[in-house]
Amino acid sequence: MTDRRRVEFVEVAPRDGFQSIGEPIPTAEKIAIIDGLLEAGFRRMEIGSFVNPKAVPQMADMAEVAVAFRDRKDARLSILVPNSKGAEIALESGYRALVFVVSVSETHNRKNVRRSVAESLDQLRSIVETIGRSGDYALRIDLATAFDCPFDGTVSLDDLRRVYLAARSIAPDAEFALCDTTGCADPLSVETRFSALIKEDPQATWAFHGHDTFGMGVANSFAAYSAGVRIIDAATAGLGGCPFAPGASGNTAMEDLVFAFTRGGVDSGIDLERLLNAADRIARLPGGQTESHLRQVPRERIAQVLPERTAEQRAQ
Ligand code: COA
Ligand code: ZN
Repeated sequence: MTDRRRVEFVEVAPRDGFQSIGEPIPTAEKIAIIDGLLEAGFRRMEIGSFVNPKAVPQMADMAEVAVAFRDRKDARLSILVPNSKGAEIALESGYRALVFVVSVSETHNRKNVRRSVAESLDQLRSIVETIGRSGDYALRIDLATAFDCPFDGTVSLDDLRRVYLAARSIAPDAEFALCDTTGCADPLSVETRFSALIKEDPQATWAFHGHDTFGMGVANSFAAYSAGVRIIDAATAGLGGCPFAPGASGNTAMEDLVFAFTRGGVDSGIDLERLLNAADRIARLPGGQTESHLRQVPRERIAQVLPERTAEQRAQ
C-alpha cells in the first residue's frame, strides 16, 4: 500500500529551469539558489546536467556547481546525464545519484541527444554496468515524451510501455519518471497511463515530471498521486522550457504544488516561506520565464489558509 499522507518532491529548477535561460547565470548565483532551496527543506534536487556544453551552454559550469555540493549528504542531489560520458564525469565528481534521459519518441530522442532510442538504451546499459561495479548508487530514468512529442504528436501507451520495459530490463532497480515534456498531458491520461503501468508492474518506483504549458501541471501531478505516484518533480517559480521541445513552457510551479498538498494535509517537509523566498530570487533571473499562482497571493493570506505545521513535521 502506498502512504496516502506523504509525498516526495524533486526540485528541478537548477536543471530543467536553468537550461531554459540563454544568458549564462553566474555560478555563484546558481549555488546561492540551490542553497536557498536546500534551506527550504528539499531532500531531492536535480542540480544540473553533465551534457555537451555546445548543446546546453548554460551547463558549461556544471563541474563547479558539482564541487560546491559534493559533500552534502543530507539530500539526494542528482545530475542528469544523456550518455555514458556524462555518467563517468558525474561519478568522477563524487555523485552517485544520476538521472538518465531517454525519449519514447524517436524524433525527440534524436533532437535531444542525437541518438536513436536503441542507441540511448545501449548508453543506459553501459552506465548501469559502470555504476553497478562501483557500489551504491541511485538511478532515475526519465522517460521523456511519455505522453506527447513536440514533433510526432501523441505518443501511444504501447510505445511508452515498450521503451519502459526495455529500460526496466536494463536497470531493474531504477526509479522511472513519466515526463510530460511538452506540458500537453491532461489529468485523465496521466491517471490512466500510471494506473495501467503500475497495475502491470506494481514493484517499480514511479515518478511524475510535468510542465505547465496548458495550465495542467498541478492537476496532472494530483492525477499521478491518485494513481499511486509518490515522487513528483516541479521547479520553484515555475521556471523552465526545454530548448529541445519547442512550444513547451516551464515546469509546474513547486510552490503551487507544495501549497496544494499542504492544504490537503499531505506533508512534504517543505517550508513554504523559505520556498517563496527562493522563488522570488529565481524570478529575478534575467531571461527566465516564470509562472506561479502562489507568488501573486499576499504572504499573510497564504499563512491564514494553511494548517500550522506540527512540531513533529518541522523536525523531519
Ligand atoms: N558531458 C560533457 N561533454 C560531452 C558529453 C557529456 N555528457 N557527451 C559528449 N560530450 C562532448 C564530447 O567529449 C565531444 O567533445 P569535443 O567536441 O571537445 O571532442 C562533444 O561533446 C561531442 O561528442 P559526441 O559524443 O559526438 O556528442 P554529440 O555531439 O553527438 O551530442 C549529446 C550528444 C548527448 C552529448 C548532446 O546531444 C547533449 O549533450 N544533449 C543534451 C540534451 C539535454 O540536456 N536536453 C535537456 C535535458 S532532457
Ligand atoms: Zn522537463
